[in-house]
Amino acid sequence: MISIHTNHRLLFLLPALLYVVLVGVCAVWPAVLEQQAEAKVEKTVETPLVERGRKLYGSLNCVTCHTQQIRGDERMAAEVDGERIVPVLAADARFDREVASRAEEYAHQEPPFMGTQRTGPDLSAVGKRLPDVQWHYWHLYNPQSVSPDSLMPPHRFLFTTEEPAEDVAVDYEEVLNIEGLGVPAPRLWATPDARALVEYLISLKREFVEQERLAR
Ligand code: HEC
Repeated sequence: MISIHTNHRLLFLLPALLYVVLVGVCAVWPAVLEQQAEAKVEKTVETPLVERGRKLYGSLNCVTCHTQQIRGDERMAAEVDGERIVPVLAADARFDREVASRAEEYAHQEPPFMGTQRTGPDLSAVGKRLPDVQWHYWHLYNPQSVSPDSLMPPHRFLFTTEEPAEDVAVDYEEVLNIEGLGVPAPRLWATPDARALVEYLISLKREFVEQERLAR
């Protein structure tokens, strides 16, 4: 009788086969599925300003305090017209999204800013919740001016109180003064970096477009 205890060839072949099967199931198959997910979604062409803002979001490490992923409540998942719908987890409902994040949402994002820690709110639909450019300037310059007791660090280096030179002035945007902003000069300008970052934040609201495209 062939026994794994006496047949060395079998002793080698069985674990080798098991190894190949496990690699297939645990690594190759998920990778194939992932690539299919990416292929379903076309790359959205961003304006150069949004692209620049996205890079700044990465380099300023906003991702250490903010997620861009809405969790779904798998227990409430339901089949609607052949499509599996996962509702938003109750704890994430305050972030103004109607569906949980899906893998497709991060396709073509290099790197994806999913985040792991929520010291501040999720920003995946912040453009929907807070579409006002000036609000973002005030908030970045002095978070407490619009959000009392905010723990977010101020990003004053994105602003200048010096009148921008005439040849570049068009790239600067004046920030309206509000009470409690604490500007040490009569006027404040958002630098091109601040503009780009805010443009990116406001662009974060594409959830439904993505869903429509997937539904086709
Ligand atoms: C140390 C943690 C921390 C970092 C780093 C941080 N934030 Fe925040 N952020 C917070 C907290 C806490 C809040 C909630 C209080 C508030 O509104 O200021 C917040 C709120 C916000 C809001 C308002 C969201 C809402 O729904 O009210 C925006 C927009 C935002 N942050 C953008 C950014 C950007 C852009 C960066 C990077 C330049 C950044 N944050 C870096 C902690 C942080």
